[in-house]
Amino acid sequence: MKIVVVAGARPNFMKVAPIIEALKKQQAIDPALELLLVHTGQHYDEQMSRAFFNDLGLPRPDVDLEVGSGTHAEQTGRVMIAFEALLLERKPDWVVVVGDVNSTVACALAAKKLCIKVAHVEAGLRSRDWTMPEEVNRVVTDVLCDALFTTDTLASDNLRREGVEPAKIHFVGNVMIDTLLKHHVRAQALRQWEDLGLARRGYGVVTLHRPSNVDAPEEFKKIVDALDVVQDELALVFPVHPRTRRMAENFGLWNRLQGMKNLRLLAPLGYLQMLSLTGSAALILTDSGGLQEEAVVLGVPCITLRPNTERPITIAVGANQLVDNDTDAIVAAVRCKLAAAGGTFRRPEKWDGQAAHRIVQILLNS
Ligand code: UD1
Repeated sequence: MKIVVVAGARPNFMKVAPIIEALKKQQAIDPALELLLVHTGQHYDEQMSRAFFNDLGLPRPDVDLEVGSGTHAEQTGRVMIAFEALLLERKPDWVVVVGDVNSTVACALAAKKLCIKVAHVEAGLRSRDWTMPEEVNRVVTDVLCDALFTTDTLASDNLRREGVEPAKIHFVGNVMIDTLLKHHVRAQALRQWEDLGLARRGYGVVTLHRPSNVDAPEEFKKIVDALDVVQDELALVFPVHPRTRRMAENFGLWNRLQGMKNLRLLAPLGYLQMLSLTGSAALILTDSGGLQEEAVVLGVPCITLRPNTERPITIAVGANQLVDNDTDAIVAAVRCKLAAAGGTFRRPEKWDGQAAHRIVQILLNS
């Protein structure tokens, strides 16, 4: 059997790492199993890509399609063209895609048109918000796939409701949590907060990159206003995505952020540095999808700066709260979370470090 595993952007790397590890273990038993790791090159900066390969012990990609940045159509189209050529040459039995980025949908579409079987890891998540490019990517990818691996039963229910054949749906758990559990102790030992002069549980971590928050100046400003108030009450650490920095500079918000004395702006962090900081934070303020899930297992309360989430299980277990883009609402939510004791949250079923193993067993028996 020949399997191609695709990674394209930062949130993909921690999801493919345990799958590659499980496939390599299987290869040691069965040398006939062929494995190809393809990087589309959607993310390419050292800190957005290579740092993750190093931290996660991922092998160098066998192929890098080097597509780079562009509009949605440009980026998706470039991945499709380059990936189709690779598929025609290598003729795999399965293509495995993860998450919801442009590379995910592009590779699924190119493979399916060549009648190559496609598996989607993290299938069935739905925000029902069609203004999010990721929602388009999720729905289109799922419709194409032959195997749909879900992180929770709510996602499996979504797929069944959409008419997906039940035999294609496999509830396997969360590969991103496989990676977190593997690296958590090592990350905490780094004690990144000390390097910043902060106390364990004495700071909040902020991440922002959604176009809906950072591409519109009024929306971005409301969040910056809230951060200004919050940083007076709780030290904040803010690793800044390249898109967010560019927008902050364009909108004249960068100088303001730089001027906040209790908010530290950082370049994007590698996986271990970030996990070190989030694992010992008092609070996470984010618009990321993955951080909402990581917060559950880390036992750190999360405030999500979005009107909806494709990951409602994080709310159901009490770890996550959605807050609209309103300065007062954000500040009130932070105060409320800080007043409540932090704690442990119920960990969803099968978020146990074995998701990738389950996926590989299903693929090999297909
Ligand atoms: C992408 C994903 C998003 C994911 C996010 C994580 C899509 C539609 N979006 O958004 O789901 O949550 O990654 O980071 O796939 N840039 C760099 N260096 C890089 C990569 C990007 O400077 O290595 C800059 C470029 O200016 C680029 C911009 O960031 O235009 C946006 O990158 P892009 O991959 O298009 O989308 P993200 O916002 O990163």
